[in-house]
Amino acid sequence: MRYAEELIEEVRERNDIVDVISSYVSLKKKGSSYFGLCPFHNEKSPSFSVSREKQMYYCFGCGQGGNVYTFLMEYNRLSFVEAMQELADRVGVELPQQEQSPQEKQEADTKVILKEMNKAAAVYFHWQLLHSKRGEKALEYLNKRGITMEMIKHFGLGYADLYRDDLYQYLRKKGYTDQQMKDSSLVTIDSVKGSYDKFFNRVMFPIMDVNQRVVGFGGRVMGDGEPKYLNSKETILFDKGRNLYGLNYARRSREKNIILCEGYMDVISLHMAGFTNAVAPLGTAFTSGQAMLLKRYTEEVILSFDSDGAGIKAALRALPILREAGLRGKVVSMKPYKDPDELIKQEGREAFIKRLEEAESGRMFELVVLHGQYNQNDPESRTEFIRQMAQKLAGIEEAMERSTYINAAANRFMVNEKDLTKLVNRYGIGYQYEKVNETYKKDPETREKAKQRKEDMKVQPQRLLLTWLIERPYIYDSIKKYVGPNDFLLPLHHSVAMMVFDQLESGQEIVPARILDKFTDAEEQKEVAALFNARLKYEPDAEKDDKALTDVVRKVKMASIEDEMARTGDIVRWQELITLKNKIQKLQIHTNL
Ligand code: GTP
Ligand code: MN
Repeated sequence: MRYAEELIEEVRERNDIVDVISSYVSLKKKGSSYFGLCPFHNEKSPSFSVSREKQMYYCFGCGQGGNVYTFLMEYNRLSFVEAMQELADRVGVELPQQEQSPQEKQEADTKVILKEMNKAAAVYFHWQLLHSKRGEKALEYLNKRGITMEMIKHFGLGYADLYRDDLYQYLRKKGYTDQQMKDSSLVTIDSVKGSYDKFFNRVMFPIMDVNQRVVGFGGRVMGDGEPKYLNSKETILFDKGRNLYGLNYARRSREKNIILCEGYMDVISLHMAGFTNAVAPLGTAFTSGQAMLLKRYTEEVILSFDSDGAGIKAALRALPILREAGLRGKVVSMKPYKDPDELIKQEGREAFIKRLEEAESGRMFELVVLHGQYNQNDPESRTEFIRQMAQKLAGIEEAMERSTYINAAANRFMVNEKDLTKLVNRYGIGYQYEKVNETYKKDPETREKAKQRKEDMKVQPQRLLLTWLIERPYIYDSIKKYVGPNDFLLPLHHSVAMMVFDQLESGQEIVPARILDKFTDAEEQKEVAALFNARLKYEPDAEKDDKALTDVVRKVKMASIEDEMARTGDIVRWQELITLKNKIQKLQIHTNL
């Protein structure tokens, strides 16, 4: 069951797509659209576009596209009904109670069950820690590590029992089936070895999403043992790349920045010391999905990683990711301590505040690390360092920022500022060009894409024509005598063309996002979005407009004629088609605008 069409429309119209997507992706206005880094594939330069006029998004890189509903469905892995609910809540529209389709119901049910099961497991682990005889050892471990009772309760810490099927038995008694438990990744169901808990004899850290729902767990061995930390597998509830430990609290802290550290224990120590803005990734490296999540709550992220080589490497990896998401990154040093947990234990809260104040800007941190990699007493090695530094500085897009950094680097590393500026400028243009060229040559994916593009050439004119009809409806009168919906060969293109031509004929305003709502299949929606976002490699200037339009109409019509010629057995029709073909070849369209 779906909601009434008018209601779906109302909720969509009241949720401007640019506003909604802005809270997930950092967007910049470029021409009539907004651009940002695509959340659906990994990329370094923005090809994800959002249009206010069309109320649609489209990625020129991976082809994902749709309206505000599909965005939420894809991004947050919601069903249509859930997306609708979220958007209705966002603008204060009350939705009537309604029935779901069996498939929607099943998916929603699975999620509800997983949520309940995770919650039940968290409660069980917590109870074991606080009240069971067996949990005493774990409680002692946490106490020894200096974690207060208050923090144990705040973070809902727990203990997974020594017995290998403890949780399994508990959840079974609560009525959960083997399949449901398998889905939750809390229990391993093995036909040979039987059913056993994923976590046993570990201190448990429930992982909560921003809405405070338990979505997974991290578990630490008490003392030595391998692996030191074990994390839940991903489930339909739990996406490691889009959650951060502690964010449920950090999002509400009043601080102007967020502290990103390495692990669960760091987060807890920091919160305990009053730094309620600390978060950590979930056992994997920091991702761009996490950066975008942070961007919803802050402008500045302070990296507070371990002081060892791995921590420095992790910081060097995270900084460009933050930058791409439009976040300012800073790095704070923990030396001579191992991590924030240790530093705070040894020196206390004030010392950490001081470190935060002294945090180095991300770019300067990168240069300092680079500096350390070269022998500064050897002229050849030092020259190489300066070259590498100049290349990095050349990568700073904004002129003002670039010259500030050149100045700071010249002072800090004792290089002549004028010389450094010259070197940076020399790298400026050539360097960027080389980089693009290199990635093109190396990347096998690029070659694969080129092949794909050739295939696309056949359908591309049809997409272009639909895009143009929507963006420039005034061309309709000049082209309608040559092409109609029947010239769109693929069934999907045909049905969209029917709607577009219909609406143009009756003089209605075309709302692409509304047309999109007629399609419920995700693949179909993607292709419809592509239909409305076709682009020429060059954007035609005014004089060339008619020429480009003529060319596209000709291609659409020719493909359609050839298609009919291949199918028809009627000789008279054949002759008509040949005549038509000749006529189309000579076609000239003038839009008089
Ligand atoms: P303590 O030793 O308990 O103080 O933790 P720590 O924060 O010092 O841990 P460490 O720096 O070793 O690791 C930081 C984070 O990396 C942890 O919170 C885990 O999320 C993750 N991690 C560490 N060890 C493992 C492991 O063996 N397996 C997995 N999957 N993740 C790990
Ligand atoms: Mn650590």
